[in-house]
Amino acid sequence: MSVWPDQIPLFPDRATAIAREVDAIYFFGLGIATIFSILVAVLVAYFAIRYRRRHHDEVGQREQAPAWLELVWSIIPLGILLFMFAWGADVYFKARRAPANAVEYYATGKQWMWKFQHPQGNREINDLHVPVGVPIKLIMTSEDVIHSFWVPEFRVKMDVLPGRYTNLWFEVDKVGTYRLLCNEYCGAEHSLMGGRIFAMEPADYESWLAGGQPQTALTKTGEQVFAEKTCNTCHKNEAGALGPSLDGVFGNEREFADGTTVIADENYLRESILEPRAKLVKGYQALMPTFQGQVDEEELVLLIEYIKSLGQDE
Ligand code: CUA
Repeated sequence: MSVWPDQIPLFPDRATAIAREVDAIYFFGLGIATIFSILVAVLVAYFAIRYRRRHHDEVGQREQAPAWLELVWSIIPLGILLFMFAWGADVYFKARRAPANAVEYYATGKQWMWKFQHPQGNREINDLHVPVGVPIKLIMTSEDVIHSFWVPEFRVKMDVLPGRYTNLWFEVDKVGTYRLLCNEYCGAEHSLMGGRIFAMEPADYESWLAGGQPQTALTKTGEQVFAEKTCNTCHKNEAGALGPSLDGVFGNEREFADGTTVIADENYLRESILEPRAKLVKGYQALMPTFQGQVDEEELVLLIEYIKSLGQDE
């Protein structure tokens, strides 16, 4: 079943600000490459004719280019390349760093489908509804092999890996339906692993959310999972608890028994749930059992969302 019977156009529509920036740098690079290719080809042809051998006993002689000419043809290309490097780095950082106010959604790749979770708790498969004009950050993982999340109209693409989180962000500025593709060969139905992104006016998005089954926010469901898995017996917010308090953990520095530190992000929380002994918080014993195999990807997301909400003023 193909969602998109038509072909992908050579230059898909641009639906994000980044898409315009990516295209600008792409066409600039293409233009530079074209100009120099033509320049070199024309000169080769011209010199071949201009300095052709006119007599069968003619012998070539070595010419030395003057220093100023050497400098000109070294410095100008260097300047152009450094300009493209600086420009490219700027666009790259903008494309990779989600704004601080981005709304976080979860995406899971699986042979051969995409599963999404909204912060409000709504779930979707292959389709994702988002509001326009709002930066959206996807926190992504895979249940099996490597997939890659790609929306040509947004000019963003990111690998989706089993066992860890990668992320990607976009802010759609045009209402519309955009195709989502898997961009990493992942098995027999790789080419069919796609879906649709529905970018809607924020008000329409709100009514779409409200129109579904009533949902519980991820943080609330996460709190239930936290209790079900009895995490709360050790991770109590009080002195003498067996596990460290998790209040305000997310986004802050953690110090470990071996003296190393890390800023707690989603990957750190994931590791601490699945491999609690990998990074032991200073002042605590290695008492926590692994939860590998006891929590699935969805429960992990719920736990992480709940832990992220702890100690945050709402
Ligand atoms: Cu998933 Cu290709």
